[in-house]
Amino acid sequence: MRVRWTTYILAMLFGSFTLAYSMELKDKTFNTEKAGKVVFSHSSHLKKKNARTANVGCKSCHNSNLKENVRYTMADMDKGKSCGMCHNGAKAFALSGCTSCHKVRQITYNVKETGPTTFSHSVHLKTMQCSSCHNAIFKPGPNKRVNMAEMEKGKSCGACHDGKKSFALSKCTRCHPVKDRSYKIAGAGNVEFSHVFHLDAYGCKDCHAHLYSHRGHKKAVTMAEMEKGKSCGACHDSKTAFTVKENCDRCHKV
Ligand code: HEC
Ligand code: HEC
Ligand code: HEC
Ligand code: HEC
Ligand code: HEC
Ligand code: HEC
Ligand code: HEC
Ligand code: HEC
Ligand code: HEC
Repeated sequence: MRVRWTTYILAMLFGSFTLAYSMELKDKTFNTEKAGKVVFSHSSHLKKKNARTANVGCKSCHNSNLKENVRYTMADMDKGKSCGMCHNGAKAFALSGCTSCHKVRQITYNVKETGPTTFSHSVHLKTMQCSSCHNAIFKPGPNKRVNMAEMEKGKSCGACHDGKKSFALSKCTRCHPVKDRSYKIAGAGNVEFSHVFHLDAYGCKDCHAHLYSHRGHKKAVTMAEMEKGKSCGACHDSKTAFTVKENCDRCHKV
């Protein structure tokens, strides 16, 4: 059963402190369609130790500007309703601090082909509002998966990452971080393959379309196979880059 705040006051008036005490004031969770969840805490707002909430009583909020079970918009709040009675930059932090009330987290896309790709709300929120993305570009919560070809047509991240509003989709590693690959080779010295070095001259496709899978490779390639153009040998053939037939120590560190 719902307990109304007036019942609580009545309980206090009639001296039933134990009853009042036992009526623990719950946190209220607002579920918004476009901006996630907002949790309102009675206990933090009624803390007597905090100078700014010391004189806050039930009626500071439970008045005509904040009615239970009435939905308020941010526009209403800007006009002093609901949270906006105090969250105006004077009595409490301003409404412009969206993330103080609306909780957002870092999103991780598990992309099979490239490894995990993260989206940071906080980086983006430095220069934009929730409404720049929600819900025109993304619903909060899982959206239908989008591939890079669809992004190129302006979907998902591609709505802004088009080389104009923000960096282009061709800058793959800004969203898909890559790491070095080390090959442990007994007898011939280990080999470090550097993505970053090679990405100065190549895109992911130059190697991952035909030479390697993004999930790493299953079967080790021999030098004899490389001499026939496999793996590193596709380029390290003395024409495109130094050959695998010599230069052993440029790759194998001893
Ligand atoms: C800082 C503002 C604020 C103060 C102070 C405050 N409340 Fe609330 N109270 C709220 C908000 C916001 C809600 C949620 C309203 C809604 O459901 O739309 C709420 C809801 C409630 C509810 C309904 C809870 C439920 O589970 O639906 C009760 C009961 C209540 N308050 C009692 C009190 C009492 C008693 C006091 C004083 C001791 C008090 N409140 C002080 C803001 C406040
Ligand atoms: C009666 C004035 C008042 C009202 C109304 C009010 N707040 Fe606050 N709120 C404060 C004060 C004062 C603080 C202390 C922080 C500060 O000094 O800015 C605070 C702090 C907070 C905090 C940070 C502390 C915490 O609880 O985590 C959140 C979040 C918050 N308010 C959310 C809300 C929401 C959501 C509403 C509307 C449902 C609301 N407040 C309505 C006065 C108010
Ligand atoms: C003091 C806390 C607080 C702050 C700061 C705040 N909001 Fe809200 N917001 C709420 C609460 C609570 C609701 C739900 C109110 C309800 O349903 O009655 C809400 C609802 C919304 C909604 C759905 C209703 C609507 O207006 O369309 C959107 C969108 C939204 N907020 C965006 C924002 C953005 C963007 C910012 C920053 C500019 C922001 N909020 C700052 C507390 C806050
Ligand atoms: C630059 C675009 C962008 C902006 C700005 C943005 N978001 Fe998001 N948001 C996203 C993306 C992308 C996702 C992930 C959607 C998915 O999982 O398919 C997301 C997911 C969410 C989710 C669900 C995440 C979860 O925890 O499951 C919430 C809630 C959310 N956003 C709230 C907000 C709020 C509130 C703001 C403003 C304070 C905001 N967002 C601003 C892009 C944005
Ligand atoms: C509403 C426009 C918009 C959308 C949608 C958007 N971004 Fe961004 N993004 C920006 C802007 C603006 C910047 C900052 C300016 C810049 O660096 O070009 C940025 C910066 C970034 C950065 C650099 C962060 C840093 O640390 O410097 C990454 C990574 C990024 N976005 C990834 C994504 C991903 C992944 C998505 C899709 C899930 C996405 N963005 C959707 C506009 C957007
Ligand atoms: C702005 C950030 C961003 C940039 C730049 C970017 N991607 Fe992506 N990419 C993503 C996100 C986010 C996903 C996952 C989207 C989803 O699941 O909805 C993805 C998915 C993928 C996928 C799996 C889906 C598919 O298209 O097959 C591949 C492969 C991929 N990216 C490769 C690349 C390559 C190659 C580049 C450079 C040409 C690149 N990406 C540039 C963010 C980016
Ligand atoms: C010059 C060639 C080359 C280019 C260009 C290249 N890669 Fe790779 N990539 C490799 C090699 C070699 C491996 C390791 C294959 C193996 O397991 O032997 C690899 C492995 C990977 C792996 C698996 C790593 C692991 O932990 O197992 C991922 C993910 C990956 N690459 C992503 C990318 C992305 C994203 C791009 C573009 C931004 C890219 N690569 C561009 C050569 C390349
Ligand atoms: C798509 C072509 C391509 C592939 C595939 C490729 N490389 Fe390269 N690599 C180059 C080019 C071009 C250079 C720079 C030209 C030169 O130094 O001859 C280079 C340079 C290097 C260098 C020298 C870097 C430096 O710091 O000077 C090393 C080491 C190297 N590659 C290792 C590898 C290994 C190991 C593989 C296989 C796992 C590989 N490369 C696959 C094209 C490629
Ligand atoms: C462009 C870089 C590169 C050059 C140059 C190179 N290697 Fe390798 N080598 C590799 C990589 C990478 C592997 C591991 C391949 C794998 O596991 O898929 C390897 C594997 C090997 C192996 C173990 C597999 C086998 O074929 O038995 C031996 C031995 C070897 N290299 C010797 C040499 C010698 C000797 C030279 C010089 C004549 C040489 N390599 C030049 C990159 C290079």
